[in-house]
Amino acid sequence: MQKQQEQEQKRSSSVFNKLLWIVVGVLAAYNIKLYIDHSPSAHYEIIGNEIRMYNDGQYLKDSQLSSLSKVLSKNLQTTKLNAQLSINHITDFRDFFNSLEKLQNLNELSLSLGNNPIINEQAQANALSQALSRLTKLNTLSLGLESIFNYENRETIIKGLSKISGLNTLRVSLINCDLSGNGLKSLYALTELQNLKSLDLLLVGSKLKEEEMKHLQTILHKLPKLTKLNLNLYANKIQIDGAITLSGGLFQQRQLKEFGIELYFNNITTNGTESLMGVVGSMENLISLNLGLEFNYINNEGGILVGKALSQLKNLKDLSVNAATKNFGWDGYEAIVSSIEKLPPLENLELIIGVNKCGLPGAELLKQTLFKHDKLKSLKINFLENYIGDAGATFIAEGIQYQKNLQKLSVNMNFNSLSDRGALELARAVKNAKSPKIVDLRVSQNQITDKGIKDIFSLLEQALPKVDLMEVELLNTALTNATRDDIELKYKEIQKLQIRLNTIPPSHWE
Ligand SMILES: *[C@@H]1O[C@H](CO)[C@@H](O)[C@H](O)[C@H]1NC(C)=O
Ligand SMILES: *[C@@H]1O[C@H](CO)[C@@H](O)[C@H](O)[C@H]1NC(C)=O
Ligand SMILES: *[C@@H]1O[C@H](CO)[C@@H](O)[C@H](O)[C@H]1NC(C)=O
Repeated sequence: MQKQQEQEQKRSSSVFNKLLWIVVGVLAAYNIKLYIDHSPSAHYEIIGNEIRMYNDGQYLKDSQLSSLSKVLSKNLQTTKLNAQLSINHITDFRDFFNSLEKLQNLNELSLSLGNNPIINEQAQANALSQALSRLTKLNTLSLGLESIFNYENRETIIKGLSKISGLNTLRVSLINCDLSGNGLKSLYALTELQNLKSLDLLLVGSKLKEEEMKHLQTILHKLPKLTKLNLNLYANKIQIDGAITLSGGLFQQRQLKEFGIELYFNNITTNGTESLMGVVGSMENLISLNLGLEFNYINNEGGILVGKALSQLKNLKDLSVNAATKNFGWDGYEAIVSSIEKLPPLENLELIIGVNKCGLPGAELLKQTLFKHDKLKSLKINFLENYIGDAGATFIAEGIQYQKNLQKLSVNMNFNSLSDRGALELARAVKNAKSPKIVDLRVSQNQITDKGIKDIFSLLEQALPKVDLMEVELLNTALTNATRDDIELKYKEIQKLQIRLNTIPPSHWE
């Protein structure tokens, strides 16, 4: 007995040794050096001239940061640094910034400092500003300053980075920074970046209202002509006047090729949508558009305006529209989906257009649209709570299986009054579509039975050999415990199949 155990141990330790040598071999082959600092959680790796420090949310202290600063000092040839240091217990970054400043070959920097309890803010802002201004070879910068630095200190940092004359790609995250009143003026120096081509501003939960949009308008006017702009204004209080002012700023950037605007949780209503869509419709070079209008009370009329703008964008390849909202009805839905139908073939389409009860005719219209766009590489449909029923699901399934080039497929049909038949058609479409590598199928909150769910999985199983990852969500269906247990047992070993199942008491369905 004991001998057998020893043999087992020997065998497993020799397997372990083999694995270890394979890992070492791979690391050596790709010239990857992997270092793990002795203190529990300061991570970094060096790959060629690139340093990666992924340490978000590790509760690092200053002493652990200082070991990372030394890594910088010892690798002065570094051209690319990714330092994710947000959500830690760091009080002082100055040594780190001083070491950063010496990386004279740096081309790309991603630095995230948000949510740290820094003290002596001003001295740190000065050190960061100076470091950035001296990184003269930088062309790409991403700076995460979530919930830290006041107006003056933010302004100091922005002034520093505005001196990097070769900067062409910039992302600044100011999530949860209070930018009300004149707060956005602290970003005015950005307009000195005369070689800037791509700007991504994350102004999420930044207390922006109507007046504040004037400053954003000024910035958009004074920036050089960009090719790519992304404005994330999620969770602010922008209403009609703010949307009109913002649109005025965007008018100076209508040469854009890629544009994204996220306005989720504001209130621009139909009238705000009118001015925003007026300028979006005039961006005739757009190849990529991401419109986030959920929860803005845009109404049917707003949907019609979105449709009108989309129909003018004949060069689009990538389109994402989020117009899901309660008081948005058939006319708005029809305008958006039929304008997409008339566009030249897209490569990527995301349509988040739930909660509007478009029903069976809505599903049929989407099918026609998918028939016109049969070259999609990525298709994401979120039809949450649209009451399309089994016949509607069958239409959408036909549209999906018509696709020939899919790499990604994501379908959310939660709350759509489906029974087994409709859900099975969707599973069959996943099996028949050619040939997504990544699949996310959600059919929760529909009355699907044990038999239906077993049949769904036997169809999906047939698609497994060709996918890399398949996620399936079936929550709050009519599934019973016994079948749930069968399914979990049957598929639990299949790593690339991620299943979310639950059961609820039968009384729920009465
Ligand atoms: C949204 O804006 C409209 C029009 O300005 C206004 O009547 C309405 O009360 C606002 N709704 C919310 C939730 O702020
Ligand atoms: C919206 O615009 C229409 C005219 O286009 C106007 O009659 C109406 O008063 C505006 N509503 C608000 C709340 O500004
Ligand atoms: C089903 O399983 C859940 C736990 O997952 C349990 O709470 C519930 O009592 C079970 N129902 C029946 C009918 O056995």
